[in-house]
Amino acid sequence: MKTQVAIIGAGPSGLLLGQLLHKAGIDAIILERQSPDYVLGRIRAGVLEQVATDLLDEAGVGQRMHAEGLVHTGFDMLFNGERHRIDLERLTGGRKVMVYGQTEVTRDLMEARKAAGLPTVYEAANVQVHDFDTTRPRVSYEKDGRSHTIECDFIAGCDGFHGVCRASVPRGAIQEFEKVYPFGWLGLLSDTPPVHHELIYVNSERGFALCSQRSHTRSRYYLQVPLTDKVEQWSDEAFWTELRLRLDPAAADKLVTGPSLEKSIAPLRSFVTEPLRFGRLFLAGDAGHIVPPTGAKGLNLAATDVKYLSNALIEFYQERSEAGIDSYSQRCLKRIWRAERFSWWFTSIMHRFPDEGAIHARLQQAELDYLMHSEAGLKTIAENYVGLPLDFGD
Ligand code: APR
Ligand code: PHB
Repeated sequence: MKTQVAIIGAGPSGLLLGQLLHKAGIDAIILERQSPDYVLGRIRAGVLEQVATDLLDEAGVGQRMHAEGLVHTGFDMLFNGERHRIDLERLTGGRKVMVYGQTEVTRDLMEARKAAGLPTVYEAANVQVHDFDTTRPRVSYEKDGRSHTIECDFIAGCDGFHGVCRASVPRGAIQEFEKVYPFGWLGLLSDTPPVHHELIYVNSERGFALCSQRSHTRSRYYLQVPLTDKVEQWSDEAFWTELRLRLDPAAADKLVTGPSLEKSIAPLRSFVTEPLRFGRLFLAGDAGHIVPPTGAKGLNLAATDVKYLSNALIEFYQERSEAGIDSYSQRCLKRIWRAERFSWWFTSIMHRFPDEGAIHARLQQAELDYLMHSEAGLKTIAENYVGLPLDFGD
């Protein structure tokens, strides 16, 4: 088999890349280790920056998002028992975010790919990438007990944090930066109306909480929990009781509870790989970097990596220029580090760090209090939350 771009991974990064390349007349095959249902079963964040919604429009998959997604012009921060609204629209000169689940983004991309008759191999086992330090890379895999090889011009590593692409790069050619946080997020999805029409990020004495949503009838809530906690220890009842204790009385009173549709614990990590290009192999999305979810930057960063990568590949095929692929890594990393910094900072001001002592909690409260009473402070939060423009710093 032959193709121009072999894409490893059919998460949002791989699927969006496939769609943008298809629009430009470039062939790609996607290889995915899991089944479509498994991919759609993963519940992840749900806040899209305008840059990401524009990209989904460009890829031709924005229709359902505009019909069903919820446009949010602000969110609340709750600390010291008081809620403060971050008016994104006012603070950023009119910018907003879109609340639309990653699962739905993935579903829309999958359907568009299917409708266009583009090739995706699901349940591809033992995917391996070869010869990406030459101009004729190959990808091998097994499907239904048979071995296959794809010859290609480029390999796009869109295979997430645990993928094979980053792991195949010689250790001496790659540098990794990592911080693991001393807690995780316990998430619960339920068919209950959201407690508030906007998101609430909570820093309470009992730890962080987040009230998010997927629609007017579906809620997503999170609790900061110790890394040692197991999801089996948390009954739905225990989750709702703890969430109520972290909310202000008005929200606690309004909270509607119900059975969980999904419950899971995710560790929090900041992680960046440098560089993101190794000859003819590129890393994009979670394969190259992870942010803690506070601030919901993961999917947005993945989308902009993919935009830079598709531009670079289009430039290569249409203009025979390698300028875009040569600058891919540097361009992405600049944006990635900005989002890493914000996600780390927002995580650090909104969570409780039990090992840091009482002074840390007081300093954190003072910082939050300062931010809420300073126009500059509010703008710092808002402009990072809505995200940088695609061409920032150019
Ligand atoms: N072979 C084939 N496919 C693989 C392999 C492999 N060896 N390893 C992983 N994959 C697949 C996974 O099964 C998954 O479907 O690659 C896909 C990677 O998808 P994601 O983990 O969703 O990563 P990405 O597409 O970059 O999306 C980034 O996900 O975690 C969130 O916050 C993050 O929202 C962001 C988004
Ligand atoms: C979510 O809805 O899952 C979500 C929203 C905002 C975040 C993180 C997760 O910052």
